[in-house]
Amino acid sequence: MKYVIGIDLGTSAVKTILVNAAGDICAEASKSYPLFHERAGWSEQNPDDWVTGTIEALQEMMKQANVPAEDIMGISYSGQMHGLVLLDGQHQVLRKAILWNDTRTTKQCEEITETLGQKMLAITRNRVLEGFTLPKIRWVQEHEPELFQKAALFLLPKDYVRLKMTGNAHMDYSDAAGTLLLDVTNKEWSKTICEAFHIPFSLCPPLVDSTERTGTLLPSIAEQTGLRAETPVFAGGADNACGAIGAGILSAGKTMCSIGTSGVILAHEDDSTRDFEGKVHFFNHGKKNAFYTMGVTLSAGHSLQWFKDTFAKDESFDEMLAGVGDIPPGAGGLLYTPYLVGERTPHPDSVIRASFIGIDSAHTRAHFARAVMEGITFSLQESIEMFRNEGKVVDAVISIGGGAKNDVWLQMQADIFDAKVVKLQNEQGPAMGAAMIAAAGSGMFDSLEQCADVFIKEGQTFKPDSERAKQYQSLFSIYQRVYDQTKAINEQLRSFRA
Ligand code: XUL
Repeated sequence: MKYVIGIDLGTSAVKTILVNAAGDICAEASKSYPLFHERAGWSEQNPDDWVTGTIEALQEMMKQANVPAEDIMGISYSGQMHGLVLLDGQHQVLRKAILWNDTRTTKQCEEITETLGQKMLAITRNRVLEGFTLPKIRWVQEHEPELFQKAALFLLPKDYVRLKMTGNAHMDYSDAAGTLLLDVTNKEWSKTICEAFHIPFSLCPPLVDSTERTGTLLPSIAEQTGLRAETPVFAGGADNACGAIGAGILSAGKTMCSIGTSGVILAHEDDSTRDFEGKVHFFNHGKKNAFYTMGVTLSAGHSLQWFKDTFAKDESFDEMLAGVGDIPPGAGGLLYTPYLVGERTPHPDSVIRASFIGIDSAHTRAHFARAVMEGITFSLQESIEMFRNEGKVVDAVISIGGGAKNDVWLQMQADIFDAKVVKLQNEQGPAMGAAMIAAAGSGMFDSLEQCADVFIKEGQTFKPDSERAKQYQSLFSIYQRVYDQTKAINEQLRSFRA
């Protein structure tokens, strides 16, 4: 039997999976690493923690799997997007990585928009938002100029791990699209943007397709992990592109809901000229010459994790969520907006913060947990509504990630989205997309589509209940009013934040 390895470098942990040619998961391992929030709005990680975690996870997985290393056809990656990794000429890390959910760069975003205006949107196809990489580079230029002088290369998180595993630096189009330095339609680094912001062109790594071979393992990595040094390594993609590949979103008409730390609603696009005026993200896909549109909720799984850490620390998620399914839609009149670190879609706003509205003395912790799940799902519904308003048909949604692990939440998604929600058998999130990239890159399959036919197996379907869908429609319009009503209050509260 032949195998491939998918590595998903997430925000809270790295996960590795070993998949056989039939698409079965033969072994998996995961290692977590710390997140640093030194100031309000800051979110950083130590790039070498990613490398250590990945090697440890591979070691553990290979021991567990006990398969001949020569049967492993390839390795590929999925990675948290946008995070800035700055390296010197010797490929040494210059500072902690500034992550996708770090919102310190509002001023830099305003300056970038003022300098290039509509040109930015025309070239990058996206609005300038705090989460993207260019504003982070501008922040370092302004606040750490001496450090920036030493920078010879910038990479995104999974590219740094691949560099440390192969010795070679590359970036694939699906991840490069989230930097705001890529000409998304023409698939090349934008000279106009680099020049406008004094970014040496040499800082940008060579661009490759997701399924392109980027080298083999360094002997020291092979030795530590139990893999062969000759194991081919393929570029991989952005976690959302990989999530989409793993969910079979490889042609128009399919929509994905992914709930990880962030939450996304994503739809495939063949047409590179389709214009959403930056209202939703528009990125290159991991499939060659394809694109996708996406709306992002910054604190999706993060909201539930925060709730558990704060109010149910010693319980499992299942224990904390017991009883949530017995509470009717609306959580007894309790609404939650998931703006713990600001928001992206449909409100690009780094200052807004989360709210619970309607707290009553009859509410129990289960009401709050249900309200958190509903609030996250309402936020994702905002993206679905935008897609529908642009003429997209959203009648079936493939659900992946943490949100697909709980049947109450899957039914809630179906009722709130008013669409069929499909769960996958053997759901592995973006790690499966990474494994599929390795499978297509190594020739195990001729294309991602052929691989998808074998690897992706649809499971249970959750159909919307018309009564609950109607109730949620009314609740959704109340939910939508909370943003405007709490915006000014949060601006005033800002100066009290840590
Ligand atoms: C997408 C985004 C997040 C991260 C999470 O634009 O910022 O979904 O990719 O890893």
